Amino acid sequence: MTDDKPDIRPYSPGLEGVIAAETSLGYVDGVAGRLLYRGYRIGDLVERGTFPAVANLLWTGDWRPGHRLATGPLPDAVLTALRSLPGDAKPMDALRTAVSVWGATQGLAWPPTPEQARAVTAFSPTALAAFARIRSGEDPIEPDPSLDLVPGFLYQLTGRRPDDGTARALDAYFIVGAEHGLNASTFAARVIVSTRSDIASAVCGAIGALKGPLHGGAPSEVVEQIHTVGSPERAEQWVRETLDRGERLMGFGHRVYRAYDPRAAALRKVAESLQHPPEWLALAIAVEDVALRVLAERHPERALKTNVEFYAAPVLQGVGLTPDLFPATFALARHAGWTAHVLEQAADNRLIRPDARYTGPAERDLPT
Ligand code: COA
Repeated sequence: MTDDKPDIRPYSPGLEGVIAAETSLGYVDGVAGRLLYRGYRIGDLVERGTFPAVANLLWTGDWRPGHRLATGPLPDAVLTALRSLPGDAKPMDALRTAVSVWGATQGLAWPPTPEQARAVTAFSPTALAAFARIRSGEDPIEPDPSLDLVPGFLYQLTGRRPDDGTARALDAYFIVGAEHGLNASTFAARVIVSTRSDIASAVCGAIGALKGPLHGGAPSEVVEQIHTVGSPERAEQWVRETLDRGERLMGFGHRVYRAYDPRAAALRKVAESLQHPPEWLALAIAVEDVALRVLAERHPERALKTNVEFYAAPVLQGVGLTPDLFPATFALARHAGWTAHVLEQAADNRLIRPDARYTGPAERDLPT
């Protein structure tokens, strides 16, 4: 409302349906259940790529399957900051803090570069692994430059070099988590860098956005639900009772996908080929069958299919990560997409500054 005339410009709460950027990075086709990175199908990238090759594809547009990227060093200032955090700090808070301190040590200047994108993507796994060890009373482990980023992260987390199958499974998870269009955290990163701020600030803001439960998802809740079901015979009754109570089935439904999430399809294959899958994987598959059938029965008007979180849970648990590290591990993967969007935004920058419709009082005098 204003004194003059009503503001009739369109308003879309949550910016739903608003085109707020052009991108050549990721294409999310919700109707057909397709996800493409620079035109390449996610399933093909998982089968034939590695996370460093996929990240490089996003940053540069070049497909170089042999491209390597090891985890990066931990500046002393970051180590000091991580050691000063309370032991029960959330891994996402620790990661956001680490990236902030890292940025302060890098002298990052505008415009952001692919080298900066590589550096922050390589730094963060070291920081998260260091935090996880410090909180359990262990010393951080130096990066091993002979290992690629994902096996390097697992090595710095556990002190053991992972076997190929384990490293490959987590690498697949990193590939499917790398990019997903103009989601909230990616948009936050683009907004920040559009002010000509630096790439570390953009990644800190993106981590903050991803931390929210509406975005970061909760594969850990999938684990809890599957444990509650207990056995395949109880699946049908549990699904019906959960829906009768008005609760949601974790790992189903999506704002964009109306078809089976292609990331879930890729991760299901990975979960099934794990050398040490969690013992509840077979139960999860049984629950999925029942859930899809009952959701279709209850919601004939809206396709509610399996989403990425459902099979992220067994993959992450199967490679030995504890559920409280799941969201921050997702953030490590999404660094590739965030930073690629930062580069894309900076290459053709316009300050992102939408309008708000004013709904407050008309002009008036202060009370005397
Ligand atoms: N279980 C049961 N019912 C579900 C459901 C689920 N997982 N997801 C959606 N629905 C139902 C809603 O209850 C709603 O029914 P109603 O119209 O009778 O109230 C209808 O489907 C539409 O839901 P809506 O909340 O409008 O969909 P959305 O696009 O806003 O939600 C999610 C998308 C992902 C937030 C939602 O599907 C969800 O909460 N899923 C579970 C959590 C999850 O797996 N998150 C990870 C996402 S990657």
